Amino acid sequence: MIHAVYPGSFDPLHNGHLDIIRRASRIYDRLTVAVLHNPLKDRYLFDIDERVAIVNEVVKNLRGVEVDSFHGLLADYMRDIEATVIVKGLRAISDFEVELQMAHLNRQLNAELETTFIMTATRWSYVSSTRVKEIARFGANVSKLVPAATERRLRACFADPEQG
Ligand code: PNS
Repeated sequence: MIHAVYPGSFDPLHNGHLDIIRRASRIYDRLTVAVLHNPLKDRYLFDIDERVAIVNEVVKNLRGVEVDSFHGLLADYMRDIEATVIVKGLRAISDFEVELQMAHLNRQLNAELETTFIMTATRWSYVSSTRVKEIARFGANVSKLVPAATERRLRACFADPEQG
């Protein structure tokens, strides 16, 4: 019984994330999508409740997938929930450099951990939350890049002039 965790900011969830969630859920018995809650960072567009709500809405029909939030170190969170496998998506070499460092550090912090990588499907390899937000902020259509739950919230968010 392997319990894996797919951690991230998910600000907001896009189709590349969903691709990784679907594929990881076929590999592992149990998959927790863990949304990082960092109260010190105000750089998020969506607060923790909104980011978790989007993921919940999108994964509700996927078997073996649950959603949680965490704060502090991922290695500690993994120990707390007794999960041993970290899942990460890799889009490009630039992701790999960052992820290699994190994988080594996470293993140093918690020797039980293994980080596994899933190569993002080519069609989503250029999608990032940052670019999705940038496009949506200027009113362009992101429906091909994100699930409906994300699109709806982006629209609502940027319809509010305070957020622009
Ligand atoms: O979606 P992101 O922002 O690329 O996800 C990064 C995330 C949340 C996986 C990473 O920042 C993380 O694990 N943060 C928790 C704090 C931590 O454990 N830092 C040390 C990593 S070696």
